Formats: sequence, structure tokens, C-alpha cells
Amino acid sequence: MNALSNQFDLTGRTAVVTGASRGIGAGIALGLLQAGADVIALQRSAPNAELRDAAQKAGRRLIHVKVDFSEQASIGAAIDECLSQRAVDILVNNAGTQIRHDSVDFPLEDFDTVMDVNARAVFQLCTAFARGMIERRQGKIVNLSSLLAFQGGLRVPAYAASKGAVDQLTKAFANEWARHGVNVNAVAPGYFETDMNAALLADAERSAQIFGRIPAGRWGKPHDIAGAVVFLCSSAADYVHGITLPVDGGWLGR
Ligand SMILES: NC(=O)c1ccc[n+]([C@@H]2O[C@H](COP(=O)([O-])OP(=O)(O)OC[C@H]3O[C@@H](n4cnc5c(N)ncnc54)[C@H](OP(=O)(O)O)[C@@H]3O)[C@@H](O)[C@H]2O)c1
Repeated sequence: MNALSNQFDLTGRTAVVTGASRGIGAGIALGLLQAGADVIALQRSAPNAELRDAAQKAGRRLIHVKVDFSEQASIGAAIDECLSQRAVDILVNNAGTQIRHDSVDFPLEDFDTVMDVNARAVFQLCTAFARGMIERRQGKIVNLSSLLAFQGGLRVPAYAASKGAVDQLTKAFANEWARHGVNVNAVAPGYFETDMNAALLADAERSAQIFGRIPAGRWGKPHDIAGAVVFLCSSAADYVHGITLPVDGGWLGR
């Protein structure tokens, strides 16, 4: 057994991180690079310059593979490209989208978009990458859940449904794959200062309500989530299966 500090070392591992272009995904990719992993950034937009510099500094590979999770053909091609580059040891399903409307006016096409990106693509990537992990009897999958897997939220019924699905998929996969050496878990960020929350941050009343309920007394920042993900991707978490770990400044305890 490795010394405890070595258990978090991911040297030699290849991690796919979806949506590494910005926000929480960029923070997670940076954490994995710093822990020693090479990273395949599976993302829609151009490579992130900060990540590229961090990879170079750390002597790690950062590979960019393009995908749009709302386009079915794009997802299959992107998975094939990742698998042609490397055996994938770690998958972090981070990409996600949010659409807000009053529930009574929520268009079906917006419901489908949110479910496709946040839940269907997660199902597709987990099953596609798990196959090799099961064969090699080694793999770590971390899915991005949300407080809205626990709570219903306001004006975000599709997002809440999609994150509920993420938690259930996490448990369902863990039940089947744990015995094959594959860990499937989720992290649930609280309220983080990213583009996804720009509308909330701009709404002084909602922003104050949210801030007032966070015991830590601040919104989360992308780097706050990286340690939890590195832990779940490391051998320190070999016996952790099917959980959703809140990283929420204490929100759920209130
Ligand atoms: N921020 C929070 O408070 C919070 C709380 C709980 C859970 N989360 C979850 O954490 C994850 C990251 O959130 P974030 O706050 O970092 O969001 P963000 O800043 O809005 O970034 C979203 C990421 O997802 C990618 N993405 C969205 N739609 C996509 C599509 N159709 N195809 C490919 N990529 C797509 C974006 O790519 P582009 O750059 O190309 O647009 C971007 O990389 C999400 O799953 C979110 O649900 C966030």
C-alpha cells in the first residue's frame, strides 16, 4: 500500500475532462494536471491557454478533442477520437448547461437540450469509456451533480431533473462496475462563481439570499472543487462507490 500522500499521485494516468474550456471544468483539469495526469480536454470551444501553460509547466500532455454534446454525431466521433489517442483511466463528466424559464412556460425543446447535454451525454460517455476500464480492471468516473439533485430550485425544472438523473446513473453504474475495479462517483458543487450563475450573481436580491445561506460565507470558486475530484480519481478513494459528495460551503447542512 502506498504512503497516504502518494495515494493522490495520478502520474501516468490519462483523464478525459468534458467542458474544460472554462469555469469548474477548467479548475478540475488544472487540478488533475497538477496531480500528475495527462488530460484530454473534450470540449466545444478552443483550447484554454491557461491550461496549456499549466500542462507545459507541469510536463504533462494536454490534448484537445472537439465535441458538441447537443449533437449526437459529434459525441460518437469525439469518443472514438479519445479512444484512438489513449487508454482512458479517468473520466470527469463536467460539461453542463442551464436554461431558466417559469416551469409553466418551459419549452419542450429547451427541456430536451438540457437533458441531452446534462444526462444523455453523461450516460453515453460513462458507458463508452467504462468498457475499457472494466477490461483493464481500473478506472475512475466522476460526474458533476448539483444541489439541484437534492432540491428542486426555482425556474430550473429541466436542470433539476437532469442532475437527479446524474445521481441515479452514478449509483446504477457503481452497482454494476464496482466489482470490476471501476469507481463511479459524483460531486455536487454548491453555488459557484461561474458563467452559469451570471444571471443569479447579477440579481442583487437572489444573490443576497443565496450568499446569506452559505455557512462558509462565500460563493465557491473553480479551484474549490479540484481537490474533491482528485481524491475521487485517486487510489485513496478505491473503496468509495456510488456517492455524491457535496462541495457546497455547508449549504446542505442548513
Ligand atoms: N456553477 C455552479 O454553481 C454549479 C453548481 C452545481 C453544479 N454545476 C455543474 O458543474 C458543471 C460546470 O459548470 P460551470 O459552472 O463551470 O458552467 P459554465 O461556466 O457555464 O461552463 C459550462 C461548460 O460546459 C460546456 N458545455 C455546455 N454546453 C455544451 C455542449 N452542448 N457541448 C459541449 N460543451 C458544452 C461549456 O463549453 P463552452 O465553453 O464551449 O460553452 C463549458 O465548458 C456543470 O455540469 C454544472 O451543471 C455548477
